[in-house]
Amino acid sequence: MSVLPKVSTTAVGVALIRARESEREDRLLNDPYARAFGDAARASFAEAPETWAKVEQLVDAFYEGRIAGVRVFDDLVRDAVEAGLTQIVLLGAGLDTRAFRLGLPAAVRLFEVDVPEMVSFKEPILRELGAEPTCGRTVIAADLREDWAPRLIEAGFRRDVPTLWLEEGVLGYLPRERAQAVLTTVTGLTAAGSRFIAGALKVDEKAEHYRQLREFVGTEAQPSRGLGPDPAAWLREIGWATEFHAWDELAAPLGRTVATGDPDTGLIVATSP
Ligand SMILES: C[S@@+](CC[C@H](N)C(=O)[O-])C[C@H]1O[C@@H](n2cnc3c(N)ncnc32)[C@H](O)[C@@H]1O
Repeated sequence: MSVLPKVSTTAVGVALIRARESEREDRLLNDPYARAFGDAARASFAEAPETWAKVEQLVDAFYEGRIAGVRVFDDLVRDAVEAGLTQIVLLGAGLDTRAFRLGLPAAVRLFEVDVPEMVSFKEPILRELGAEPTCGRTVIAADLREDWAPRLIEAGFRRDVPTLWLEEGVLGYLPRERAQAVLTTVTGLTAAGSRFIAGALKVDEKAEHYRQLREFVGTEAQPSRGLGPDPAAWLREIGWATEFHAWDELAAPLGRTVATGDPDTGLIVATSP
């Protein structure tokens, strides 16, 4: 049976999506590591083929929107580095490979935080592939529901350095008070000029594929998850300045049919004072 908890299997889904995209001629990104993650995960589900079939079904359902989302976040990371940010923290990094595939400069320090099971799954695969990050990369096996900040600091995170924080699909799995506590911790660790990017896409909670995802992960019975109904307002309350970027505008240059037609669906880019 898989070594990964269900919530972490969602990161396998994103890796499968990146692998599929990488094989296209008109690809939005190339991830040479994603296929190996997918293969290893599939092998670990050998005795649970029906669960693996569910993962593949969810990959099909989420492919178009998610791959555009990954590319949008790639571009936001490049923009932040070009703007001079040299410290990056990926909260719930999953099987993210930006430290390897974006050509980030050596001066950048990138921290990946995820649960120990995810780290134990991911790191041996990267070692076996001989993957070398282009920037500094530190992996922190920690549960964001616990006291993770000291671990980050021990691992070399600098509180005096403006940081890019990425929330890409993790806080929505945490109960509201836990998700907000993560942000309170981030705020306490954050130097002026830092950015926090939240994948606060409004989703159609009633849509069948979202219902199936919640059922798969087991969060169907927890209605209050994530940062709340108005994450931007909440971020402003705790001292961040926020900018809203409409999803349809972010995705338009990608040339894929992922427009939502909803001007209120988008991403929040928050800047610390
Ligand atoms: C949907 S995946 C997103 C992964 C990655 N950010 C991406 O976009 O590919 C959610 C990730 O959050 C992680 N996660 C969920 N709950 C967590 C927790 N309490 N602490 C740390 N990581 C957690 C999972 O292990 C998983 O890797």
